Amino acid sequence: MAAISMHAVGKTFGKTAAVSNVALDIHDGEFAVFVGPSGCGKSTLLRLIAGLEDVSSGSIAFDGQDVTEQAPSERGVAMVFQSYALYPHMNVYDNMAFGLKLAQSNNTNKTDRQGMDQRVRETARILQIEHLLARKPRELSGGQRQRVAIGRAIVRQPRVFLFDEPLSNLDAALRVQMRIELKRLHRELGTTMIYVTHDQVEAMTLADRIVVLNEGRVEQIGAPLELYHHPRNLFVAGFIGSPKMNFMSAIVTACDAQQVTLDLGIGRPIIAAVADTADLKTGAKVTLGLRPEHLTDTSGEGQLEGEVIALEHLGSETYAYLACGNGEPLVIKSAADTAIKVGQRVSVAVPPQKCYLFDETGMALARRDFGEWNVIEVG
Ligand SMILES: Nc1ncnc2c1ncn2[C@@H]1O[C@H](COP(=O)(O)OP(=O)(O)OP(=O)(O)O)[C@@H](O)[C@H]1O
Ligand SMILES: [Mg+2]
Repeated sequence: MAAISMHAVGKTFGKTAAVSNVALDIHDGEFAVFVGPSGCGKSTLLRLIAGLEDVSSGSIAFDGQDVTEQAPSERGVAMVFQSYALYPHMNVYDNMAFGLKLAQSNNTNKTDRQGMDQRVRETARILQIEHLLARKPRELSGGQRQRVAIGRAIVRQPRVFLFDEPLSNLDAALRVQMRIELKRLHRELGTTMIYVTHDQVEAMTLADRIVVLNEGRVEQIGAPLELYHHPRNLFVAGFIGSPKMNFMSAIVTACDAQQVTLDLGIGRPIIAAVADTADLKTGAKVTLGLRPEHLTDTSGEGQLEGEVIALEHLGSETYAYLACGNGEPLVIKSAADTAIKVGQRVSVAVPPQKCYLFDETGMALARRDFGEWNVIEVG
């Protein structure tokens, strides 16, 4: 097990800055998830931790010991990739034992071999692949192959597990199942795990803490719900949550102690609860953020109104897309008991406590319903 800290880490490929000035502390035994859009530097960051890439600047330490100059084999990390590359001619047992055999090749006494056998079998038990040990990779399903790849990493008893989108080749149902198994595995092993994904739902469900990356930089680090409730800026607000948060430009028309009145140029004025209006002035331009799940069609008079242009029935819930006359469609969660239809005009109530506000630079302004705004550590 190991705590990992990165100090001012940068990595450039020619003129491309893949990772810039990343400061990050991952706690011992933590399940950390790196999330962000394609090309934001997730894999590069993971490869820097593994030692598969050299940093261009900064340093990396495991348990306080600088490993920046160490080779991958000295760091005690095991990495699992999307393409799991099992040896096709070896059965499951040998695929799992192979890495260990290599590591122990100089010292093959009987006790070691017994220990190795025990470790492979114990790992197979944890991953529920004991009955597959004699099979070749081609005789396995995608999910089973992925478990063998994870097993190969586990038997080496690394200090840190690094996963780079290991589930993206699997179908949706299997991904959910493997997610639950990875969580269980983490509880059982207690080893530090870093998991890379571009899927924010995967990040929300797996992580103790999420690191949101954008263009090689850390946007925010926090527990899943902390990011959901207190996004630090527009990027994080738009990235965490599904469907995505609605954004609308607005002008502040009145400012009281704990609430502001907003003019959106459409509909009626909207009241937003805020913790502190010190940074706001009448006339200020802001972005209003509203999560679809906090908006619903009301039979009464809401502040916003629009025509339903599309519906998304997810079974447990329905999302409606409204043309409100102002840029992007407004996405709302339809009330369970209404049979909403395309072409219908609906009215939407905006709860003051559910308004997210961002200033002109995209930084979040304090929200009242979650108390004091606390600045969350960022790199
Ligand atoms: N070996 C390399 N040579 C040149 N540029 C690279 C190399 N590896 C990565 N990059 C660039 O660095 C940036 C970050 O790449 P990286 O693979 O870390 O992104 P990512 O977040 O893992 O993306 P994805 O979600 O698509 O896997 C990209 O602009 C990429 O083109
Ligand atoms: Mg990647």
